[in-house]
Amino acid sequence: MRKWYGVIGDPIGHSLSPVMHEFWFSRSGIDARYEAFHVTKENLVKAVDGLRALGASGFNVTVPHKSAVIPLLDETDKDARIIGAVNTVVHSGGRLIGYNTDGIGFLKSIETRFPEICAGKPSVLVLGAGGAAKAVALTLAKYMAGRLDVCNRTLKKAEALSETCREFCPSEACELSGADEQLSRYDIVINCTSVGLQADTDGQVVDAAGARRGTLFADLIYRPSRTPFLRQAESLGNPVLNGLPMLVYQGAYAFKKWTGIMPNVSEGEKLLQSLFSK
Ligand SMILES: NC(=O)c1ccc[n+]([C@@H]2O[C@H](COP(=O)([O-])OP(=O)(O)OC[C@H]3O[C@@H](n4cnc5c(N)ncnc54)[C@H](OP(=O)(O)O)[C@@H]3O)[C@@H](O)[C@H]2O)c1
Repeated sequence: MRKWYGVIGDPIGHSLSPVMHEFWFSRSGIDARYEAFHVTKENLVKAVDGLRALGASGFNVTVPHKSAVIPLLDETDKDARIIGAVNTVVHSGGRLIGYNTDGIGFLKSIETRFPEICAGKPSVLVLGAGGAAKAVALTLAKYMAGRLDVCNRTLKKAEALSETCREFCPSEACELSGADEQLSRYDIVINCTSVGLQADTDGQVVDAAGARRGTLFADLIYRPSRTPFLRQAESLGNPVLNGLPMLVYQGAYAFKKWTGIMPNVSEGEKLLQSLFSK
């Protein structure tokens, strides 16, 4: 029987996951479908029961359900539990098992493009303390960073995230407004806030001028392809990376969980880039 997968979220109309996964299924010769489902908070329990009862082979979970889905699953992977969010569910032997591929997706996206910067236990500054920041900060703290600090508009959230990161490497928290003067201390600065999504009206999340010229500036936002933060860093001569490779890698690791096959990431990235230019 043909396998099927999906993504649940609200909103969901903008999701690029169906086109990306169906492309990879076809390239891998797997007879499977992938659908986007609009699921409100009120309908989450019914939707997960429905996916289970109707025999979905797996599904992705996006905003705002990544944390709320955890108690509805039979098992959650340790890293996803530490992050407190699940974006990928495998349905196997009647059990729903949750994983988080956002953090590993970001880690792979910088490791493959900037291996020298990543190899030397870099010092990392994470801007933001929301869901995506947690996945990125905790994964880098555990697997890559020599130290990892967190700045956020709401200091309490930065402090909570920094405390969890300290389990893996040295970490301090600070307010976002104090980040500008600190930038020279870091090898990698990552914008995990939503500042920059509205390209025409949003300001810069920090002023990159104070950083060293070798510092890598990364942004989880991929549309626009250059936020004001990345535009300034690039114009100063710093290496930059937007969120598109992370999006593709998190999808690729989800695909691997479901099928055992690592799909072609660069083909997936080219496909999404071609959609943006239409
Ligand atoms: N490339 C990818 O695959 C990928 C994956 C996931 C997310 N993302 C992107 O990552 C970004 C964050 O997503 P999320 O799910 O973590 O969202 P979230 O949980 O809502 O967190 C939003 C973060 O942005 C901060 N923020 C929002 N408006 C701000 C402002 N005006 N000034 C300063 N800080 C502000 C919040 O600070 P407070 O705590 O003070 O509110 C919080 O730290 C979004 O742009 C999303 O599109 C990309």
